Amino acid sequence: MDEALLQIKDLQTVFRVGKQEYTVLHKLSFHVGKRETVCMVGESGCGKSVTTLAVMDLLPRNGRVTGGSIRLNGQELTALSRRDRGSLRGKKMGMVFQEPMTALNPLLTVGRQLTEGLLLHRGMDKAAAFQYARECLETVGISNPDERMRQFPFQMSGGLRQRVMIAMVLAVQPELFIADEPTTALDVTIQKQVLVLLSRLKKNMDAGILFITHDLGVVAEIADRVVVLYAGYKVEEGPVQELFQNPRHPYTRGLLSCVPNIDDDAAVIRAIPGILPNITEDIPGCRFHPRCQHAMDRCRKAVPGEFPCGGPGHYVSCFLEGGGR
Ligand SMILES: Nc1ncnc2c1ncn2[C@@H]1O[C@H](COP(=O)(O)OP(=O)(O)O)[C@@H](O)[C@H]1O
Ligand SMILES: [Mg+2]
Repeated sequence: MDEALLQIKDLQTVFRVGKQEYTVLHKLSFHVGKRETVCMVGESGCGKSVTTLAVMDLLPRNGRVTGGSIRLNGQELTALSRRDRGSLRGKKMGMVFQEPMTALNPLLTVGRQLTEGLLLHRGMDKAAAFQYARECLETVGISNPDERMRQFPFQMSGGLRQRVMIAMVLAVQPELFIADEPTTALDVTIQKQVLVLLSRLKKNMDAGILFITHDLGVVAEIADRVVVLYAGYKVEEGPVQELFQNPRHPYTRGLLSCVPNIDDDAAVIRAIPGILPNITEDIPGCRFHPRCQHAMDRCRKAVPGEFPCGGPGHYVSCFLEGGGR
C-alpha cells in the first residue's frame, strides 16, 4: 500500500505548566489518505487542536513534540527546520482555524493577503495573482470580490472573514487541508457552503482533509473515517458508517448516544458521568477507566493496546475487545 498523505505515528506532545511538563498527546497514531476526509472527535480538551497544531508546527510556546513521527507524503516533518516547516505551511498544508483573526493579518487588505502567497510561492505576476485571488473569493461565495479585495478584515463580518480564510487556503491549493472547527461560528447556510467547498477541494485537488468538529451531524455528512480521542489517547477509529453503527469503545458509545453536538458538556456528562481529566492528572491504566461502567481490574493497571474489531479499518483501544476479561 502506498504511504498515506499524512502519517502520524506515536506522536507525543507535552506542555510545560510551571516547572512540570505534562503529556497531552500519548503515542497518537493515525493517517489521512489522499482524497480522504478524516474527522477527529472527542470532548472539548481531549487534544484535537493540539494535534492539528503539532502537524502545522504551530504549538504554543510552552508546548513541544517530544516523540513520534509526522510524515507528509513520506517526508518526515519533525526532522525539518522551523523555516522549512513554515514554507510547507504556505504550500503543501493549509489550515482553517475556528477564529479567522488568528490567520488573517489585521493590517493588510484582503487582496494583499490573498495575492501574497501566490506571488511568493506560485510564481505568478501581479495581474495573474489578482485575477486568481478574485476567483478564489468567488468560489467561496463572495459576490463582490473586487470590493472585498480592497477591504481590511475588520470591515467584514465573522462569516465573511471565515470564507476569506478558506479562500486563502484554496488559493494555495494545499495537499493537506486541516480545519479546526471551521463552521462553529457560522450560520447554517454558510456552514453548508463551506462543507460543499471542502468536498470539492478534496475531489478536484486530490487533497486530504483532517477535519475537527464537535458536530456529529457534520461528521456523518463529510467523514470517510473517524478518529475518536479521549484525554490525549486515540480510543477508536474506523470508517464512518461502521463506527456510527457499531461503536465499540464505551466512550464512543457515550458520545454517540448523547447529542448531535458533543460540545454540550452537560449532555456529554449525562451520557458519560464524570468529567475529562486535566492534563496534570496522573491516571494509571486506561485514562477512561474512572468514567467507564465496564472498568475491570486490568483497566486500572495497564493501557490497552489497539485491537481490530468489527469491519476492516476498525480499531479500538479497550480491554473489552481484546485480551479477554
Ligand atoms: N498552551 C497550553 N498550555 C497548557 N495546556 C494546554 C495548552 N493548550 C492546550 N492545553 C491543554 O491541552 C489539552 C488539549 O487541548 P486542545 O487540543 O485545545 O483540546 P480540544 O480537543 O478541545 O481542541 C487540554 O487539557 C488543554 O487544557
Ligand atoms: Mg480545539
